[in-house]
Amino acid sequence: MRPGVNRYYERPNWRQWVYTFERPGREIYDRRHAIVAAADVQPGTVVADIGAGTGLFTRLFSPEVAPTGKVYAVDISPTFVENIVRTAREQGLDNVEGVLNTPKDVALPDKTIDVAFVADTYHHFEYPQSMMASIRRALRPGGKLVVIDFRRIPGYSSAWVMQHVRAGKDTFIGEIEAAGFRFVEEKPLLRTNYFLIFENEGG
Ligand SMILES: C[S@@+](CC[C@H](N)C(=O)[O-])C[C@H]1O[C@@H](n2cnc3c(N)ncnc32)[C@H](O)[C@@H]1O
Repeated sequence: MRPGVNRYYERPNWRQWVYTFERPGREIYDRRHAIVAAADVQPGTVVADIGAGTGLFTRLFSPEVAPTGKVYAVDISPTFVENIVRTAREQGLDNVEGVLNTPKDVALPDKTIDVAFVADTYHHFEYPQSMMASIRRALRPGGKLVVIDFRRIPGYSSAWVMQHVRAGKDTFIGEIEAAGFRFVEEKPLLRTNYFLIFENEGG
């Protein structure tokens, strides 16, 4: 990871980050409904929104998996987790559970989730190998992993992405496969980001 990549989230200003993550012009905000549809969850699915941030996707998955499914909103930032839980309660989303994890471990029990959803967060993992091992353990047999991240292509991606994101898609696919996942497909939904689906190999 880039040193300091998570420093903005150590004591985040909630309203500032809602404005940053949930604003028109951010591709994955603009395409949020297509993204949730492509994740293909059903009532009863248990989703972990890993690196949930301000809960943009947690709130969208919640009604899709209700009434029997649930969404774990997982983040290393207590401010983010507390505020996601608060706003979910205010909005009557009673199948959202906040999980404060560590940079090395997703902090979910073994074999409890159907979908691990990692949006704009893989490049923030300071310990990707141990994070991915813990995510793999948390997935049920047949579970899937969705990774959305920035395209990092010289001459195409912004200077900010080139500086902020440590590696491009092929490197990340290689790392994730080395962690025991099988790359299944890329969904052609996004331009400045990409949307990847993996299976838990042997799971
Ligand atoms: C760029 S934000 C993305 C937020 C949200 N997924 C979205 O797309 O709106 C990255 C988030 O990942 C969190 N994060 C960084 N490392 C993490 C880790 N190892 N486990 C869980 N969350 C992490 C940060 O605190 C931050 O909330």
